[in-house]
Amino acid sequence: MKKITIHELLQDYKKILHHDITVYGWVRAFRSNRFIALNDGSAMDNIQIVVDYEQFDENTLNKISVASSVKITGEVVESQGSGQQIEIIAKKIEILGDNFTEERDKTILQPKRHSLEVLRDQAHLRFRTNLFSAVFRVRSAVSFAIHDFFRQNRFFYINTPIITGADAEGAGEMFTVTNLDLNDLPKTEEGTVDFSEDFFGKKTNLTVSGQLEAETAAMGLGRVYTFGPTFRAENSNTTRHLAEFWMVEPEVAFNNLEDNIDLAEDFLKYVINYVLDHCKTDLEFLDKRFAEEQKQKPEKDRAKEGLIEKLENVVKKRFKRVSYTEAVEILMNSKENKKGKFQFPVEQWGIDLQSEHERYLVEKHFETPVVLFDYPKDIKAFYMRLNEDQKTVAAMDVLFPGIGEIIGGSQREERLEVLRSKMQEMNVDEHELWWYLDTRKFGSVPHAGFGLGLERLILFVTGLTNIRDVIPFPRTPNNAEF
Ligand code: 4AD
Ligand code: MG
Repeated sequence: MKKITIHELLQDYKKILHHDITVYGWVRAFRSNRFIALNDGSAMDNIQIVVDYEQFDENTLNKISVASSVKITGEVVESQGSGQQIEIIAKKIEILGDNFTEERDKTILQPKRHSLEVLRDQAHLRFRTNLFSAVFRVRSAVSFAIHDFFRQNRFFYINTPIITGADAEGAGEMFTVTNLDLNDLPKTEEGTVDFSEDFFGKKTNLTVSGQLEAETAAMGLGRVYTFGPTFRAENSNTTRHLAEFWMVEPEVAFNNLEDNIDLAEDFLKYVINYVLDHCKTDLEFLDKRFAEEQKQKPEKDRAKEGLIEKLENVVKKRFKRVSYTEAVEILMNSKENKKGKFQFPVEQWGIDLQSEHERYLVEKHFETPVVLFDYPKDIKAFYMRLNEDQKTVAAMDVLFPGIGEIIGGSQREERLEVLRSKMQEMNVDEHELWWYLDTRKFGSVPHAGFGLGLERLILFVTGLTNIRDVIPFPRTPNNAEF
């Protein structure tokens, strides 16, 4: 017989009512030596197993405890109790994995809420909790929704390299990849490390973005996107930064900045809508948790909307589009700024916006997602298209409530000479990017794209607040466990 998941069983139980079936799972609770709440990860819901203890030997019963794994065969019947429609009357119980007795009393195995910090250190049990299993089911759904969106719009999914010689962002936040013997490094005549002796015959690093390769592909395929891991050696230990995160980067030939903003807005709304439609039980759980968390906060810090309500509103409202210049004026004239409430005061045009500024705009001033565009050229990457004012570039950031920047993108500089002089100005190695410059030499076209940080979107959708809790195995400064 084909194995059935608890999710399938609960979805469509009428056919098997009064039949015997076999289920597998982990014990979430065992009450009164009689009721097992069994979960197999396929959904939030448990199936209730009714055990007549007189029919089973004591040894088996003793091994049924929170977290042990079992295989149970029994009859599917309509439930006598409230809270579930069906239950299984156990006929055969097989213990698959007992709990090591000396570990059995660890509080982590108890059916209670654990702090997220504690769970972060318990790789195997993390996936067993209601919270994390919900988060990772939602993360999986979001990933598929992303592919769906692009496929429906005839984008091609391309895979860009993880090992590269390029610094796509020109920010120097790269992890070096080397095969050299670190205890016996070959040196050049100048005394620096001689990377020509390294595996690739040059210095390489983990990619910080697949954009430059995606641009190259878009110059022939038209509409492409990447979806892969990206690495940043920025030493910022915040709740929004990971050293390894997943980025989605569409790149579209013939698009300008406005097309790019439209695409970003449609894309985010599609994915959020998908989660609302397909992750109901998990979202309801997360929504309840979110409400409880809010209750513990001082009244002034509480979210105005519930989690699901917030998601529904984001899908309904049009994102507010504001130029950087306008945003800086709003910030300069804000009460917060005048009263010195910002850690970084907004004093002049040209400053890089901090997350406190982004969040003020989104959460206090506009109360809706905001797209900022036309940033000063000096605070943005070399590849962004220079505007006619010669001061700003055709950049765009999408800012979300509670998150800040969720998407960063731009129209790209397609004019070879302008790009070259920008690279010189910003000290970007032309020699390393010869292949990128080639795309501007043979049939260059206007084009645009953006990058979405997957984990930041998952934070938004799940209502969690620490980015370490929405990626299965977080990588942050001083942490590469598991
Ligand atoms: O703004 P960023 O640096 O843009 C790029 O990398 C462009 N090449 C994208 C493009 O135009 N194709 O990064 C894009 C997004 C950010 O908006 C943020 O959501 C996320 O990636 N991000 C991070 N997420 C987690 N941890 C980090 N350290 C992140 N750095 C960026
Ligand atoms: Mg950015």
